[in-house]
Amino acid sequence: MPIDVDVNAVRQPRTLPLRQVLPAILRDPVSAVLQIGRESGGDVVRVNLGPFRPYLITHPDHLQHVLRGNSANYRRDGVLWKPLHRLFGESVMADGPAWEESRRVLQPVFTAKNVEALAARMAEAAGEGIDELAAPARSGLPIDVPSAMARIVNRVVMRIFFGDKISMADAQRLAPAFDAVGTSVIFRYLLPFVPYRVPLPGDRAFGNAVRTIDDVVIPLVDRHKDKPGDGDDIVSVLCRAAGSAGGGPDAARWVRDNLVAMLATATETTAGALTWLWPLLQAHPEVAASLRQEIGHVVGNGPVRPAHLAALPYTKQVVQELLRLFPVGWLFPRMVVEPEVLGGVLLKKGETIVISPFITHRMEAFWERPEEFDPGRFSGRRSSGRHRYAYFPFGGGPHQCLGMHVFMLEAQLIIAGILSRFDLLSCTPEVATPQMGASLRPRQRVEITLRPLPRT
Ligand code: HEM
Repeated sequence: MPIDVDVNAVRQPRTLPLRQVLPAILRDPVSAVLQIGRESGGDVVRVNLGPFRPYLITHPDHLQHVLRGNSANYRRDGVLWKPLHRLFGESVMADGPAWEESRRVLQPVFTAKNVEALAARMAEAAGEGIDELAAPARSGLPIDVPSAMARIVNRVVMRIFFGDKISMADAQRLAPAFDAVGTSVIFRYLLPFVPYRVPLPGDRAFGNAVRTIDDVVIPLVDRHKDKPGDGDDIVSVLCRAAGSAGGGPDAARWVRDNLVAMLATATETTAGALTWLWPLLQAHPEVAASLRQEIGHVVGNGPVRPAHLAALPYTKQVVQELLRLFPVGWLFPRMVVEPEVLGGVLLKKGETIVISPFITHRMEAFWERPEEFDPGRFSGRRSSGRHRYAYFPFGGGPHQCLGMHVFMLEAQLIIAGILSRFDLLSCTPEVATPQMGASLRPRQRVEITLRPLPRT
């Protein structure tokens, strides 16, 4: 779709006023951001947060332009990236030459073809993780969902993508540290104009979490940087690339930054997304029944094999719909490099624009009954004609999520693996609501009880 770049048509952006926006954000940030999206109606609007006035981009045409069409003009930079730069440094989560080099080195590990080749090993690792649910299921004990999902995901990711170079004990230390990072940056997000010399709530927790992460990752780099081996896991791949670039402290730092970026993106996102599934199934027994039926019919009572996945279209639709309602990467900002007119509004150099699949995915302008959990909307028939950027849980363009294929495969293996072996007896709460952080996670404690299905 062509974008309006006619300078003569430039208009002043509608600005959502501070006196309306700020109290709403402080009271209930989730409802406030959705309301801001609805009020924009898909136009480029400016959100007045006092000294900080980002533009909100929600229209799929505009998103396509920013993320793909002219992505070089919209950098990952500016006040909203700064909090995370302290963690990810010059890695695949940055921009510019360091990002380019990181992406070039990491991309081959994550192509659809390579991920499919790893599927059998992923299924095996997921199966071992799921085995651990058997004991609490037999005793009817409640299972804490975020930590159970994190344990299963960690087992897959650590074995397949980190070549078992991080022990499960260290992986268990990393999970709460990444969790703390996600929640502690929220004040830096909401008050991005406050300088770092002024302490904000969350700063101390953030610093402690980064130290815990470095306690695991820096010795890992030291162990492998001079003898990376010929493995195809991320540690080996990064250390080999650093070695061919001459090694040295900068290269070691680059490996550290990328390992931290990959640990954060590969585990927390997947475990977080899968957590949202259980309250949704509890609240929608008809979806749970269709899912169970499909999995029972195709997989029986396990184990799940990659070959089953093609015969599980409804399971895939459930995962897609899960990410429509709860795209864990819910907000990703950009900074305008050169002035450009978008949707009739002049975006000035250095301004921040905010992109949020969470907002666009829930706008009536682009979705029918957007608040409803309806996996069938992703059937081939109902998806046809949908704008590519009406649904973008994995972003798009050159920065599109590297782990997209990993996630889709892993999520289906884990869901089919659990539901082929267990019945979901209950989940509390039935309706989980998001808490704002770097990723979208439930505010409430989510617990399930499972019952083992009889083995046939
Ligand atoms: C529910 C699962 C996931 C979601 C919703 C998600 C979402 C996203 C989004 C929206 C972006 C784009 C950010 C931007 O444009 O600034 C992104 C980038 C990225 N994701 Fe994911 N992600 C998920 C899982 C994963 C997994 C499993 C991995 C790794 C195995 C991963 C690795 C990455 C990396 C490395 C990037 C940066 C890519 C780049 O800038 O070149 N993600 N992800």
